[in-house]
Amino acid sequence: MRSHYCGELNEQHEGQEVVLCGWAHRRRDHGGVIFIDLRDVQGIAQVVIDPDTEESFALAESVRSEFVLQVTGIVRPRPAGTANAEMGTGRIEVLGKKLVILNAAKTPPFLLDEHSEVGEDVRLRYRYIDLRRPEMAERLRFRSKVSNSIRNFLDENGFLDIETPLLTKATPEGARDYLVPSRTHPGHFFALPQSPQLFKQILMAAGMDRYYQIAKCFRDEDLRADRQPEFTQIDIETSFMNEEQIMQMTESMIRNIFIKHLDVDLGEFPRMTFAEAMRRYGSDKPDLRLDLELVDIADLMMSVDFKVFNGPANDPASRVVALRVPDGVRLSRKEIDDYTQFVGKYGAKGLAWIKINDLAAGLEGLQSPILKFMPEQVVQDVLARLQAQTGDLIFFGADKTKIVNDSMGALRLKVGSDMGMVREGWAPLWVVDFPMFEEDGEGGLTPIHHPFTAPSCSVEELEKDPGNALSRAYDMVLNGTELGGGSIRINQPAMQQQVFRILDIDEAEAEEKFGFLLSALSYGCPPHGGLAFGLDRLIMLMTGASSIREVIAFPKTQSAACPLTDAPGVVANKQLRELNIQLRQTKAE
Ligand code: AMO
Ligand code: AMP
Repeated sequence: MRSHYCGELNEQHEGQEVVLCGWAHRRRDHGGVIFIDLRDVQGIAQVVIDPDTEESFALAESVRSEFVLQVTGIVRPRPAGTANAEMGTGRIEVLGKKLVILNAAKTPPFLLDEHSEVGEDVRLRYRYIDLRRPEMAERLRFRSKVSNSIRNFLDENGFLDIETPLLTKATPEGARDYLVPSRTHPGHFFALPQSPQLFKQILMAAGMDRYYQIAKCFRDEDLRADRQPEFTQIDIETSFMNEEQIMQMTESMIRNIFIKHLDVDLGEFPRMTFAEAMRRYGSDKPDLRLDLELVDIADLMMSVDFKVFNGPANDPASRVVALRVPDGVRLSRKEIDDYTQFVGKYGAKGLAWIKINDLAAGLEGLQSPILKFMPEQVVQDVLARLQAQTGDLIFFGADKTKIVNDSMGALRLKVGSDMGMVREGWAPLWVVDFPMFEEDGEGGLTPIHHPFTAPSCSVEELEKDPGNALSRAYDMVLNGTELGGGSIRINQPAMQQQVFRILDIDEAEAEEKFGFLLSALSYGCPPHGGLAFGLDRLIMLMTGASSIREVIAFPKTQSAACPLTDAPGVVANKQLRELNIQLRQTKAE
């Protein structure tokens, strides 16, 4: 139906007859001439229809936004002074000879150039219109190219692309499962995979050596800008490679992609232990584009006469930290109050601070609500440890370690971004030496990664002191986002059973839930490990999009629904009966 794409036309086509197909982006009537900006997947070309072509001119007058058109015409230079340097096709236009309306369109719910004036809900309901926006189309094209490069890289490195089931048994990755009722097994349910974790391990037991899959994963969890209930992993597993080799190979995959698609060399990724990341940044995915750091000062606060500080200072499960903000004296009382509210969301009970108006003036040069509680020497020691300067503001956090890390880690990012201190560019790193477990808040332990992650110690050592055991896991972090994570896996039944015991999964439950894995481990399972990257997150970061919803063709809303199809929906009683499901009455009924 067409000879050229709108976006590919340039001066070289001058004098040629072309046939274009696309959408009416905009129509303008100008002194008897009609201009139509015709848009297709590659770009926009300006079409001019003058009254000489009577029939087409009459049709052109009826054209409205988003009509689908076919235009036959001659490419010519734009008249002097009317060229548009911002458009790829801005030096030429197409003098239309014949116009065909292929399809009409109702008045669209929003014009493409005015998408930001409607809510995201409207954009998602009319996603087929939203995706016509060149910016959206470009992101999907970019995504397709990056996936393709990833496939090529893995293929060249001997990885097999193997599909694993979507109707399966629960794979615990820390979220709730999406369940699918079985018609043929009344009362039984499949779970959609939270990841292909167990299948990829079994593929290693099956001798496949190197596996990958660009895999859909499903997690029913609270959604955020970088989380969707249904998302895509670049899922990788290898046999007979240690963590060093796996990190090197996947790091070079990510580096290659950045060089190829963004012309950016990320360089060699630094490594940081989990303990150091938590200590300096209060986070296991630190954004290293920002220099602000948390500094421990509990030792200085042990005997001050201020309960807020001396309590946590003397409690091994707590932390007292200071965060030095250069140039922070310019923060107003109101701004400090807002930050106090902000840390409150993470459980902090307050946010003490000191402004250093003039370092040389001693106590006189300081301004703070807590000076009265502290001997001058302690204040001087704090300032010295932080290498404080005139003009700085120091924030303090004192509480249980988790609260301090969450609240002060988040404050670091917020203040840094509010004050424009986050550098442009890229800051990748590996976080390593994670603990195996963390406290689950109910007196038990829960895995930091998943329960199939190998510890760096023996079964006996793990049994003796699980709370302090480290794992052979590694996370790749980019600009404060966890891009991927993985580990060397447990490949021996005794170790796997020990981990289940620590997680309070007794033998019967382990057999019922993971018997197939334990069995696979016991028939000659090689040492193996791997990792999974979040493809949506990778594309979000690479395109600078504000959320992963902007790089997914049909994402779900914050409440995990699809406005386009209105899923999830109710189903007919007949279907429920076939599935042996009876609904409980909801409150509304
Ligand atoms: P993990 O749970 O860390 O590991 O997931 C791997 C990566 O997937 C991405 N990701 C998500 N992206 C969007 N929305 C979500 N809800 C979401 N959840 C996770 C993140 C994350 O780093 N089986 C292990 C991997 C392994 O051990 O090999 C796993 O799933 O970028
Ligand atoms: P108060 O004596 O409770 O008024 O607190 C004095 C100062 O300490 C105020 O600036 C509070 O915001 C701050 N503060 C209170 N609790 C904490 C805490 N857990 N961590 C840091 N600062 C706190």
